[in-house]
Amino acid sequence: MAVREIKPGVYSVGAIDWDRTVFDELIPLPEGTSYNSYLIKGREKTALIDTVDPAKEHILMENLDELGVEKIDYIVANHAEQDHSGSIPAVLERYPEAKVVTNAKCKGFLVDLLHIPDERFMIINDGDELSLGDKTLRFVFTPWVHWPETMSTYLVEDRILFTCDFFGSHVATSDLYAKGNYEVYAGAKRYYAEIMMPFRMMVRKNVQKIESMDVEIIAPSHGPLYKDPKFIIDAYKDWTSDDVKNEAIIAYVSMHGSTKKAAEHLAGALMERGISVKVFNLSTADIGELAMALVDAATMVIAAPTVLGGIHPSAIYAAYLVNALRPKLKVMGIISSYSWGGMAAQHVQNCISVIKPDMLEPLLIKGDPEEEDLRKIEAMADEILKKHRDLNLIEKGGE
Ligand code: FEO
Repeated sequence: MAVREIKPGVYSVGAIDWDRTVFDELIPLPEGTSYNSYLIKGREKTALIDTVDPAKEHILMENLDELGVEKIDYIVANHAEQDHSGSIPAVLERYPEAKVVTNAKCKGFLVDLLHIPDERFMIINDGDELSLGDKTLRFVFTPWVHWPETMSTYLVEDRILFTCDFFGSHVATSDLYAKGNYEVYAGAKRYYAEIMMPFRMMVRKNVQKIESMDVEIIAPSHGPLYKDPKFIIDAYKDWTSDDVKNEAIIAYVSMHGSTKKAAEHLAGALMERGISVKVFNLSTADIGELAMALVDAATMVIAAPTVLGGIHPSAIYAAYLVNALRPKLKVMGIISSYSWGGMAAQHVQNCISVIKPDMLEPLLIKGDPEEEDLRKIEAMADEILKKHRDLNLIEKGGE
């Protein structure tokens, strides 16, 4: 990968991972990802902002060779997760004078994860500055975007903010900068939904902190950089707001078609009532797409059959995931199709312990849905419409 100059003395030296398909053995990466690393050459000192995933360590080293970097004084670790920190030991070995510059909490994680010796650290606090000669690094603590230790680094003279995961997107692209905001919006929203939504209130505070700064370029450590910081800041303000939208998610799994019929009937009934619907078949759904839908939706209905004496395990997985992601959901419903044993709804409800949506009366359907069951599904749609009206998501009397 080629080195790219961002401003005089500031270079992108990270790696693109074009064909990585999953992250944390959980999150699908339909567009690959990148591990952005930045080299800042000051008149007196040189700093590297974040490193790369160990799988791409050779690319970082080749890029440093291309720039003829003989000495690195500081390796700034904005975040301890190994996709950014994993190559720090190799950089420390290659540049024996280098110190890892980070906060105390991040140091603890780096010692635990990478066994970096104590004497290689320089600990900084929120607001501290570090001079490279003619360039100054200022550290801005931004916890919980994604772990508790995460921070950003501001290059004062060039007004570049290096934010690591914050504002990032899992997108492999040869474009240094986000081209056309729409393209990067989905990737950034997916990333927010997957790793930051559980910490929404903290993320909101961090967005306010960044908004008060004079930033020309936001340079995250995944995906393209932003020359238009307002675009991504406004998107984050929307996602972290308390507002929900007139949208319902139906997540279902069906073995022989009964639950699918119920889920599709509910989708049609909600559409007729003017509610936007996103339907996910849990057997094949991209969990990232589901997480994105959860950023905005007011309502979610999980529909699943009984199997092995309880609700289908895919429904439990979905309920567990929703509870972990802590979305803004206001209303939840459960539809269960069964032949014998009707405890399925309780199994799902047991997984929803952290979020506190209004739970609709569970709808149990014995066998294949009949006319009476379809009317009950429409009654559920009426109840959801009423709740959305009460939330002022729909004009009273209109849709
Ligand atoms: Fe990209 Fe939380 O690491």
